[in-house]
Amino acid sequence: MDLTPYITWIVFAHVVGTFMFAAGHGVSMFVVFRVRKERDRARLGALLDLSGWSLGIAGIGLLILFLSGILAGIVLGSWGKWWIWIALALFIVIAGLMTPVGGKYLTGIRAALGQRTRGLKPADPDPVPASDAELERLLVSKAPENLLLLGGGGFLVILWLMMFRPF
Ligand code: HEM
Repeated sequence: MDLTPYITWIVFAHVVGTFMFAAGHGVSMFVVFRVRKERDRARLGALLDLSGWSLGIAGIGLLILFLSGILAGIVLGSWGKWWIWIALALFIVIAGLMTPVGGKYLTGIRAALGQRTRGLKPADPDPVPASDAELERLLVSKAPENLLLLGGGGFLVILWLMMFRPF
């Protein structure tokens, strides 16, 4: 099936997905830096809830941009070029490293506040809130900078590959 007449719509979906992802994930990007400075448990809980909730919208955007990107590559015959494979590999590596770096940092803080975290089964008890000293130890981290380097830097490389198509 030749989808060439629809290429503008496919690229349209790719840009819409990218916007949804950036708008949704921007919440976690700001939250992760703000959380580190916050010591009020109620405010920390609200920030973490907002970040967790926004991941849904970011995830839908991520799926749309991922699928439309693969389709655009097929229609435009880009899969014979290195740039698109490197961009795809980078994208998968970044998304894969987000859970151990970003997810783990915020999940540790959620558990320390006594919030139920994603990995818990319904029958598991609520986590016991940690002491102030333990919470402090968890909050002080280089995770925000590492995420910015990984996600922000990786995104710039992907964008450069897509726009300049060097090889
Ligand atoms: C191309 C760029 C990026 C991609 C593909 C990406 C992808 C993802 C994915 C798939 C998750 C979900 C992981 C999970 O649920 O455990 C996630 C979580 C997260 N990401 Fe990113 N990310 C990117 C950039 C960034 C940047 C630049 C930052 C911060 C400066 C960041 C901060 C976070 C944080 C804090 C979480 C955990 C959110 C929470 O648990 O509430 N990400 N990311």
